Amino acid sequence: MKILLTNIKELLQIREIGLLKVAGDGMKKLPGLRNAWLLLEDEVIKNFGSMDNLPKISAEKTIDCSGKMVLPTWCDSHTHIVYAGNREQEFVDRIKGLSYQEIAEKGGGILNSAKKLQATSEEDLYQQSAKRLEQVLRSGTGAIEIKSGYGLTTEAEMKMLRVAKKLGEQYPVAVKTTFLGAHAVPTEFKGNKEGYLNKIITEMLPIISREKLADYVDIFCEEGYFSVEDTHKLLTAGNSYGLTPKIHVNQFNAIGGVQAGVIHDALSVDHLEVLTEEDISVLKGSDTMPVALPSCSYFLSIPYTPGRRLIDAGLPLALATDYNPGSTPSGNMNFVVSTACIKMKLTPEEAINAATLNGAYAMGLSETHGSITKGKTASVMITKEIPSYGFLPYDFGNNNIETVIIRGEIIK
Ligand code: NIG
Ligand code: FE
Repeated sequence: MKILLTNIKELLQIREIGLLKVAGDGMKKLPGLRNAWLLLEDEVIKNFGSMDNLPKISAEKTIDCSGKMVLPTWCDSHTHIVYAGNREQEFVDRIKGLSYQEIAEKGGGILNSAKKLQATSEEDLYQQSAKRLEQVLRSGTGAIEIKSGYGLTTEAEMKMLRVAKKLGEQYPVAVKTTFLGAHAVPTEFKGNKEGYLNKIITEMLPIISREKLADYVDIFCEEGYFSVEDTHKLLTAGNSYGLTPKIHVNQFNAIGGVQAGVIHDALSVDHLEVLTEEDISVLKGSDTMPVALPSCSYFLSIPYTPGRRLIDAGLPLALATDYNPGSTPSGNMNFVVSTACIKMKLTPEEAINAATLNGAYAMGLSETHGSITKGKTASVMITKEIPSYGFLPYDFGNNNIETVIIRGEIIK
């Protein structure tokens, strides 16, 4: 089916094929075309141009975009959207003064979610997760990474990844899956972290790899969770199964996780709320994408990733939601983009680059997603009538996305 978008006030994020990410000063530009048309044919972006030279096109559907902007859909490279139940009681506990770490030490946190998930059937888990995914798609996300990590047993981790894969089959959104067995030490292994790590390496990794359930491997490298040494051990094992790392580092403490990620050619290092000068210089010599999760900082009232410092150092930056029941119960990329501008001092151009092309890079999808490029996947969003693209982050908390098209399908 051909969908023709006409009279587009500004078609944004137009890029040449082959540009996989933007860094430093390169993030300051958001190439666009005013008064444009865009043709989507089946699943791909077929062509675009200026309304002054609109060729004769017979399309099944034409959408008049007068006064509206068109952008590639958001690329959310870090989520835990497959989970069971919620943790609103912990939210109240934090309001009353307990910290995220104190709640985890009392058996709440990730272990609380693991208990719920283990007791939830695969079908129920799918239904709960699908509901969240539908909401996320309506808010403009067209590609998403989904992690395991609330199973913490072989069967429950596999269940999560099967659900994530099924979501990718049932919805037009591009889904990448990440095995995060090393998210926390489960209760059965209390005091025996080594034993659990060995189980991950000798039992879980081989099955997950054999069943092709994961594209990436992740670990929560943090005090009280997994050490840098554990990270080396897991990533070495993951590598032998062909799994590239995308890891949780520097959320509360800088313990050397960034360095470990870079040594193992991680596709991304995520969180980075606490960042040292050494972390920055290590990232400079690498292809690893730093990923900031500002909604998590907002919800937990922890520092924001110093995105300004990273970009000013010439590095790239991606933005993602971290959608999960504990630290970020929101999958709204529009809020992420606004918060990155307001709290991390990114310009609208930088934030939109970070949430589209660089987000696609952070899940290995920038050859097909993240920009308006002929031949890329037909995943675009049409805004409401807005004065400029800077209005998107400025008008925080309001929905300015009117129509979302993912892989050529108009989302209802
Ligand atoms: O990315 N930090 C580790 N994992 C998640 C939160 C896990 C949870 O609290 O359920 C995160 O913030
Ligand atoms: Fe996370």
